[in-house]
Amino acid sequence: MIKKTGKAKFMEALRLLTIAVFAFGLGACQQSSSIPDQDFNKDWLFFKGEYEKAEKADLDDSAWRKLNLPHDWAIEGPFSNENNARTGGLPVHGTGWYRKHFQVEEKFSDKEIAIEFDGAMNNAHVWVNGEFAGNRPYGYIGFELNITPFIKFGEDNVIAVRLSPEDLSARWYPGAGIYRNVRIKINNKLHIPQWGTKIRTPHITEKNASVEITTSVCNQSKSQQTAKLETILIDAKGNEVCTTNSDIIIQAETTGYVDQKMNIENPLKWDLETPHLYKAVSNIYLKGKLIDRFETNFGVRSIQFSSEHGFQLNGRTVKLNGVCMHHDLGPLGAAVNYRATERQMQIMKSMGVNALRTSHNPPSPEILQICDKLGIVVQVEAFDEWQMGKVPNGYNKYFDQWHEKDLRDMIKRDRNHPSVIMWSIGNEILEQSRKDGWKIAKKLTDICHDEDSTRPSTAGFNYYPAPFTNKLAKYVDIVGMNYWPLNYTEILEKNPDMIVYGSETSSQTSSRGVYHFPIEAKEKHETNQVSSYDVTVGPPWAYPPDVEFEQQEKETRSLGEFMWTGFDYLGEPTPYGGKDNSTNGYWNADWPSRSSYFAPVDLCGFPKDRYFLYQSQWTKKPMVHVLPHWNWENKTGDTIPVMAYTNCDEVELFVNGKSYGKKVKGVDLTPIPAEFHFFEKGTYYSKYRLSWNVPYHAGELKVVGYQNGKKQAEKTIKTAGKPYQIKLIADRSNIKADAMDLSFISVRVEDKDGNLCPKANDLINFTVDGKGSIAAVGNGDATSTEPYQANYRNAFNGLCLLIVKSTDKAGKIRITASSNGLQAQEIVLNTKK
Ligand code: GAL
Repeated sequence: MIKKTGKAKFMEALRLLTIAVFAFGLGACQQSSSIPDQDFNKDWLFFKGEYEKAEKADLDDSAWRKLNLPHDWAIEGPFSNENNARTGGLPVHGTGWYRKHFQVEEKFSDKEIAIEFDGAMNNAHVWVNGEFAGNRPYGYIGFELNITPFIKFGEDNVIAVRLSPEDLSARWYPGAGIYRNVRIKINNKLHIPQWGTKIRTPHITEKNASVEITTSVCNQSKSQQTAKLETILIDAKGNEVCTTNSDIIIQAETTGYVDQKMNIENPLKWDLETPHLYKAVSNIYLKGKLIDRFETNFGVRSIQFSSEHGFQLNGRTVKLNGVCMHHDLGPLGAAVNYRATERQMQIMKSMGVNALRTSHNPPSPEILQICDKLGIVVQVEAFDEWQMGKVPNGYNKYFDQWHEKDLRDMIKRDRNHPSVIMWSIGNEILEQSRKDGWKIAKKLTDICHDEDSTRPSTAGFNYYPAPFTNKLAKYVDIVGMNYWPLNYTEILEKNPDMIVYGSETSSQTSSRGVYHFPIEAKEKHETNQVSSYDVTVGPPWAYPPDVEFEQQEKETRSLGEFMWTGFDYLGEPTPYGGKDNSTNGYWNADWPSRSSYFAPVDLCGFPKDRYFLYQSQWTKKPMVHVLPHWNWENKTGDTIPVMAYTNCDEVELFVNGKSYGKKVKGVDLTPIPAEFHFFEKGTYYSKYRLSWNVPYHAGELKVVGYQNGKKQAEKTIKTAGKPYQIKLIADRSNIKADAMDLSFISVRVEDKDGNLCPKANDLINFTVDGKGSIAAVGNGDATSTEPYQANYRNAFNGLCLLIVKSTDKAGKIRITASSNGLQAQEIVLNTKK
């Protein structure tokens, strides 16, 4: 690897900054000294482990590994049962150092220089040229450091970041490293600071929307400044819809706040199906010269909550069909990637999801941009712990010192997103059981109100009735209940002023494409896989999705639910967990289980059967799904339970052309062995599934969905022959040549006729040539310890996934997948600038 000389790096930085200023000057059509924030992700150096004096400016770091951010060192593996499986069986702990050499031109010596991290996992300590610049323990929170005093303008500078994530710092996979984006800001002394705008739309009619904007203006100079703040509102097509100007005077070394009121005529509202966005451009002029420009996306929409009408968006009741999600991106780990996040949310939307809970921490900025764009409402959650810890090295260590800043910063960063509808101050906080637990709840809710008067606070309570007797429920605006579906009505009746919803529901588990006979509930299977009949093998509090559907229908006052979880995530492989003395009796897994089984979609984004159960309840476009697969070679003549999920009125089942009769949804019920906690040992009858018991004969299983007697949907599963060929299906064949964009390629093992071989586990080898490389591979098997960063993967029940990343050069990416005894396949992707 050739290390760039100081001069070469200086020239590169000079070019970048010069272009940026010039480009902006042109765009603004007037003289400008405003400099857009610069991407600061490229060309970092990394060392995994302790390193003496690594913060020093003169350290010889030439042998360190070169990489670009965002980076998650833990996802590089290896998997090991030495690492706690609860956090993914990956090396999420230890020390990691990052360094970057950079220049800031001499001509900027009168500017203010800041570095903004969207999050660093965790315990970040930052030095610039050997001087300590600041620290931030919470890995999920974005922070900015003013590094002006340490910068040597026109010379080589070095920033050093030490991260020291501890073992058992979370109940899931946190990732490790500078896993979110970083940027450098070069500001004039007078400028709009980080998160410097607050936009509200208090009155909305069809004809008009009033827009109130509070803009912070920071004056870091030693003298009072008289300037002008111009705010321009721009619609999604780029048309200016309103402009206003304010003369401002800001005292030396202070931050002032400017209130402006504007109007949008005939506003295009932000809604789930039409997520229209606007942009506010805030310009500061000093002596007629543009010196700062700040952009904020926002939407025109109203939200209301009441137990009478539930959650209302733009005056219309919307039942929350929500999912909880952890932040990892499966095989890509925690390193933020826009496309991977967008794909996750698109898959969720296709299942019928309209709401997301960012369990249990502040999300990446990207996820909120994506929810703004796709029309998904979001509950942003701050904490999983307050003062009482759940894991040996949890956030409780930092709560007293940092909670106020972390919570305020979370709200400041996210409060302009139209998608955000609630602030959650905590999940299953152990202080629920404390008589004085309400004091912290009150303090946190007060902070939420102080930072944002337009959205309610909430929390996810899992005890009942403790948070009510201990008054925590009184000190949130909206009460979220985790896993108490049968108690919504009682809670509402005892507390008529409260608004309630299921903040966490179901926790059903399953493995994609796995079926165990007879239909089982509760027992753990020796394969460490969970049957996809979805009748609850999970933690004691879990129950099938059907139970929640039923209660949500019955209790119309409930706002809806956030099911646990939308996507499988790394870590927490319940039910394959237990006690382990090496962690003080603390939870550990039955190795090699190392990622969750909870979701209707596996870690790779492949739907399990449960995806279709949610789709049948949450979507309207006619669909029907049938399970299990139809390859039971040793069971000819045996009875096989078949289930169908549909949003049609009735379904007819055919086996090899023979009808097994029509069943009517809601009338023909499916018995479920009810061993979940509130149905001790009874049978639960689901009106959300249709089922038949049929003798197995190889051939074809077909379901037809009818609406008002008319055929509206059908699905057929055929008995597959021997594995014969590999089929590659790219989610996108044209991607951006920006070294970030991804193509997700589903890899199918098929028989001669193109049927998926539902038990195939062939080892597939990949070659990727041209303008791309392998970002990761995966297969959705929660017990696989194969590396994610590799050029091979075993299929799991017929499928695996190849994720390919572009380079910054446009051209073609040639991908080949081969396997012993299978016909190989090649596909070509295009990348464009
Ligand atoms: C909840 C908890 C989640 C997850 C889930 C698994 O109690 O809030 O973080 O652990 O259980 O069922």
